[in-house]
Amino acid sequence: MAETDQAKPLASFRVHPRSDDEEKALKTKNRRRKFKLCGCIATILLLLLVIVIVILVFTVFKVKDPKVTTNEIQLTNFDVNVGQLLTGQIKINITMVVNMSIKNSNRASFRLGNSTTSVYYRGISVADAQIPPGIVIKARKTSGLNVTVDVMADRLVSSPDLLGDVRNGEMIMTTYSVIPGRVKMLFIKKHVEVKMNCTMTINISKRGIEDLICKRKVKL
Ligand SMILES: *[C@@H]1O[C@H](CO)[C@@H](O)[C@H](O)[C@H]1NC(C)=O
Ligand SMILES: *[C@@H]1O[C@H](CO)[C@@H](O)[C@H](O)[C@H]1NC(C)=O
Ligand SMILES: *[C@@H]1O[C@H](CO)[C@@H](O)[C@H](O)[C@H]1NC(C)=O
Ligand SMILES: *[C@@H]1O[C@H](CO)[C@@H](O)[C@H](O)[C@H]1NC(C)=O
Ligand SMILES: *[C@@H]1O[C@H](CO)[C@@H](O)[C@H](O)[C@H]1NC(C)=O
Ligand SMILES: *[C@@H]1O[C@H](CO)[C@@H](O)[C@H](O)[C@H]1NC(C)=O
Repeated sequence: MAETDQAKPLASFRVHPRSDDEEKALKTKNRRRKFKLCGCIATILLLLLVIVIVILVFTVFKVKDPKVTTNEIQLTNFDVNVGQLLTGQIKINITMVVNMSIKNSNRASFRLGNSTTSVYYRGISVADAQIPPGIVIKARKTSGLNVTVDVMADRLVSSPDLLGDVRNGEMIMTTYSVIPGRVKMLFIKKHVEVKMNCTMTINISKRGIEDLICKRKVKL
């Protein structure tokens, strides 16, 4: 009796010994569970990676527009002879240097393309200057850019307003600069274009620039 009493719990513990099939099923179930866990972790890691990449792309690797500033415009040459102008013998020789600085706040270098500066006088294009491409501004650096512009006297003289402006002692000119460039961040290349217009008043007797107002437009 005592034996059977002791044997009973054992018997109830394993009433039906596992068949091979059951064993296999259990193993595959375990394996599946492991696979599921692995898959879950892998998915989470992948998601985290994607999130980190997205955050980096929108923060550290976000392409920021370069800050172009016109510091000053100097008249390195200014020869407008009023007397000669009045008698029809015109002698005009104007050269200006547009002093700009470009601040690159990206974590990659900024390469300038073909940049141009044009000067307008009362709607007439009086000068064009090209900045040779290939200037590279290193990451998080500021670089100066001098553009020398020679005003074409014949074009300036073609304006009917010149005489009056010279008599009044001041001329208003506008510079129009287009600075295209490229920022290469990791595998992404981004084109940037900065447009800069400056309006200045030239005081003829002083041979100097009095008011310089600049406007900037950026296309990313
Ligand atoms: C303008 O003036 C500069 C310096 O005085 C001179 O070198 C240049 O040849 C002049 N240009 C013209 C077109 O007269
Ligand atoms: C350009 O401007 C900067 C800052 O105002 C100045 O240090 C530099 O000498 C200027 N360059 C020219 C050519 O005027
Ligand atoms: C700059 O202009 C020249 C001629 O106008 C052209 O051949 C060259 O491809 C241009 N470079 C860039 C970077 O746009
Ligand atoms: C601009 O001109 C100034 C003075 O002539 C010079 O010191 C500076 O290096 C020039 N900058 C560039 C970028 O050519
Ligand atoms: C040009 O500058 C001179 C000297 O600073 C000044 O007396 C004159 O009024 C100025 N002319 C104009 C048109 O602003
Ligand atoms: C600069 O001037 C040009 C021509 O007048 C105009 O088309 C352009 O919109 C101006 N750009 C800015 C930034 O003011």
